[in-house]
Amino acid sequence: MTSSTPPDASARISIQADQPKAISSDLFGIFFEDLNYAADGGLYAELIQNRSFEYSSADHPDWNFFTAWELMQQRGSGSITLETEAPIHPNNPHYLVLTVEGEVGLRNTGFDGMVFKAGDSYDVSLFARVLEGTIGELRVRLERRTGEVLAEAVLPVQTGEWGKYTVTLQASADERHGRFVVLVNGSGSVALDVISLFPQKTFHYRPNGLRADLAQVIADLKPKFMRFPGGCLAHGDGLDNMYRWKDTIGPVETRREQFNLWNYHQSVGLGYYEYFQFCEDIGAKPVPVVPAGVCCPNTGARFNGLWEQGQQGLPLEAMPDYVQEVLDLIEWANGPVTSTWGAKRAAAGHPEPFGLEYLGVGNEDRITPVFKERFRLIHESVKARYPEITVIGTVGPRPDGEDYDEGWRVARELKLDMVDEHGYKPPDWYWENLQRFDDYDRADSAVYLGEYAAHDIGRRSTLRSALAEAAYMTALERNGDIVRLASYAPLLGKQHRLQWEPDLIYFDNVAVYPTINYYVQQLFSLNAGDHYLPTTVRFETDRMLAVSCVQDSRSGDLILKLVSRSDGPIHAQIDLAGVGGIKPTATVTVISGEPFDENLYSFWHTHILTPVQTAMPAAPQFDYVLPAHSLSIIRVKTM
Ligand code: AHR
Repeated sequence: MTSSTPPDASARISIQADQPKAISSDLFGIFFEDLNYAADGGLYAELIQNRSFEYSSADHPDWNFFTAWELMQQRGSGSITLETEAPIHPNNPHYLVLTVEGEVGLRNTGFDGMVFKAGDSYDVSLFARVLEGTIGELRVRLERRTGEVLAEAVLPVQTGEWGKYTVTLQASADERHGRFVVLVNGSGSVALDVISLFPQKTFHYRPNGLRADLAQVIADLKPKFMRFPGGCLAHGDGLDNMYRWKDTIGPVETRREQFNLWNYHQSVGLGYYEYFQFCEDIGAKPVPVVPAGVCCPNTGARFNGLWEQGQQGLPLEAMPDYVQEVLDLIEWANGPVTSTWGAKRAAAGHPEPFGLEYLGVGNEDRITPVFKERFRLIHESVKARYPEITVIGTVGPRPDGEDYDEGWRVARELKLDMVDEHGYKPPDWYWENLQRFDDYDRADSAVYLGEYAAHDIGRRSTLRSALAEAAYMTALERNGDIVRLASYAPLLGKQHRLQWEPDLIYFDNVAVYPTINYYVQQLFSLNAGDHYLPTTVRFETDRMLAVSCVQDSRSGDLILKLVSRSDGPIHAQIDLAGVGGIKPTATVTVISGEPFDENLYSFWHTHILTPVQTAMPAAPQFDYVLPAHSLSIIRVKTM
């Protein structure tokens, strides 16, 4: 498909402002998966890597229980061993024993170093137990990469039972590649576990909280909902790797860590409580996704295009307990403090219910008899006990094919509230499928477009990909009566730690780098409406121009979105037919550039496309020139 249009291309756009159709007010949200170091080493603000000595080769072939730790023996001799007898908690079975003669240190290098800021405070906590000998205290330090000490404090430790020791350190200087050290002086051995270091300045100053700058960029998307914890991570690589929400709540030392199928580790320090709290903090509805009693179909090693184990289901005799686990999640989120699980939420610090409305069951599963039997059991029980919860089923990994067809057949048979459709396609596909949802039967289940992104050449986050997504989002608005939720995927990617591209937001330990696609998502979210106004477009070149118009009933504003992939400007005559009074000045927000522009943030070459907002005159009929390769959002105020 060529993107050339006549140099004087003109379009007529007519909006039926007096024929509003109600659409979803939750349409644009976000998809969070612990992929690309999105959680540990990313959004979760913990600075210590492998704080609980639970890393192993299951996470990554090169890793072991001491990964990210180093022994320092400049002033003494020491050794480390791994022990499992009498751990702090059975879910956290391994701990380190340090045997010393003289002064010996243990240094953690963090997730590619630690960032310290001069004057900022950092909370240290650790569990320790002196096993033998004369060890009366530990010294903890923040260090530069060069070894220069930036902060130090002493922690007295005792023999006997495990004790939790805490202290706050204040960094004396900035450092981008810092490290954390525990020094032990004496003669004997000490057991150590869950050695933790958090900046006090987390997002909203939450304890066990989130990295403030990264969380803020996510918050700035103003997402209406947040889906978590995946993606494939939700159903896991094998039955033992399924994400079980109960393993992720309570004091962090009691949580069950496990390998991350994206080839690293899940400390689950960012667990269900933290996910729900973050949703509340950013005004997004929580959309947890629980496994449908089956693991990811891509389980095990891959041979000749087939997965070694593939999809497996929990034994049927285990399903009643599993179904109860799902019901307990709803009680934990919404139940009164007098309920068993509501009491646990309250004990964690949140007596008010979280107001869960949506529950995803399954992710891109193969729609096999094994899946169907288990899904049906979960669905039936949830709807019987909590009819008000919107259950979201799954229709496989692609917008077509066997699982899509069978998933939809099951959805119709079970009369599911909603199904989760996924699709990653080249930019052209989105332009060619703008009509996709127009013909969906309105009596069928509603749609959650749970994962989508335009994959351009080299999986780059180009303006061309962002405009393809923008065009598709106009179609989502037009079909917002049945497409109730939509989220770009994935959300986060840590530089040099990527398993999947493109991502909406890139980051490293120091900074956050939003893509052009991020600004498109943000513009749609900030300019969402709850009514769609029928729009007619007359334009000579097909699939070059996508338009939608919504109204936000709170402000009364009419919001017109115009997406062009034409190489030249398009002169549009716009008619707001049937509109009542409008104010004489509107705003127009534009993002435009060359199709292969990308937001590049480097020391040598910074090239960033961001939206530009200006004022423009408004009238019931007006002209507007769409720049080449652009998204324009015109916001008209009504009287
Ligand atoms: O978004 C990345 C992955 O893509 C998700 O984990 C999975 O659901 C999909 O295949």
